[in-house]
Amino acid sequence: MTASEYTTQSLFIGTANHGYAQQAQEEIRRLFGTGTLFNQLTPAETYLFQLPVEKSEAIRVILAQEPMFLRHMQPVDAELEWDGTLKAVQYWIVREFSFSLNTKLAIQVRKTEHAAPAISTGTLKQALDSVLVEAYSVEPVTKEADFILSVYLTAGKVYAGLSKPEHNLSDWSGGAIRFRKEAGQVSRAKFKLLEAEQEFGLDFAQYRSAIDIGAAPGGWTSLLLERGVKVTAIDPAKLDASLLKHPNLTYLKKNAGDVRLNTDAYDLLVCDMSWSSRQMAKLVKGLLHSLQTGGTAVITVKLMHKKPFQAMRELVEDLAPELALQKAKQLFHNRDELTAFFIKN
Ligand SMILES: C[S@@+](CC[C@H](N)C(=O)[O-])C[C@H]1O[C@@H](n2cnc3c(N)ncnc32)[C@H](O)[C@@H]1O
Repeated sequence: MTASEYTTQSLFIGTANHGYAQQAQEEIRRLFGTGTLFNQLTPAETYLFQLPVEKSEAIRVILAQEPMFLRHMQPVDAELEWDGTLKAVQYWIVREFSFSLNTKLAIQVRKTEHAAPAISTGTLKQALDSVLVEAYSVEPVTKEADFILSVYLTAGKVYAGLSKPEHNLSDWSGGAIRFRKEAGQVSRAKFKLLEAEQEFGLDFAQYRSAIDIGAAPGGWTSLLLERGVKVTAIDPAKLDASLLKHPNLTYLKKNAGDVRLNTDAYDLLVCDMSWSSRQMAKLVKGLLHSLQTGGTAVITVKLMHKKPFQAMRELVEDLAPELALQKAKQLFHNRDELTAFFIKN
């Protein structure tokens, strides 16, 4: 597979959460139909995909109907049959790509397990930064880049492509977004809500009052409290002791099916129950009267039986007509889950 053989084709590397590459490929196939080819790079996670349209059209179509399971994509503009040396990649990159003066360039390097064990991704990145600074006076950056140069090493080949950060679905290498763990952090689940905030373009500081259904031990609740939101946390399990005295917290230590909430009391509803999606939807539905019209809901959907498309369809049906789906995405911090963002009608 090479992108350069046909002008009406394009080649990309796609990345999904481990175990969900097949679903990501199915979504891409639905967008582009026959003529879409896949070639695995890392089992169940990373793959080459060739599309029957040119690069800019491929990006346009994917951004317009973003697949839930495609976490990250990078174009492949050039391929190198590789002897495994650093020098070969340096020469090749300088030859294949050129940049205008002071371009803010983020180089992101990934590799397969068996590619060049002696060369770390960090070493290669530094080596490429230095030759591109010398040849084109680029400004190496990690964030807010004008362009990302993505380099993917395998045992015999190197793939590289240049793109605007927003065309990769994530400006993190492979879409692996990292947050710093804080001292005293209540749970890792907090990262999921932080990622959802970015992914869905939300700003929790703009909300006044939230319910958190299935809140314990309290990672999501703690994030919302930090953002200045008043939180009603619902869970029969214990919330972390560090949260209990917070003046903006109301803790209902109950099953979500047993609570009574005032109508239109909240502008944000979040739910992270590790339950069958249908049962969860039923419980959420019972509390939706408390969410104001125009309010936001962020809901984690468990993919218990590996039928993710069906689970999503059912969730949307179960929560209609009150909630309208805006976007669903498998986040980097989701494990056998999806996260969905809705607006209340
Ligand atoms: C994955 S944990 C939530 C983690 C939480 N988001 C955090 O950041 O710490 C799932 C929680 O859902 C709660 N849960 C399950 N069924 C529930 C129900 N019917 N009503 C309320 N909470 C429930 C469980 O007790 C559990 O604490």
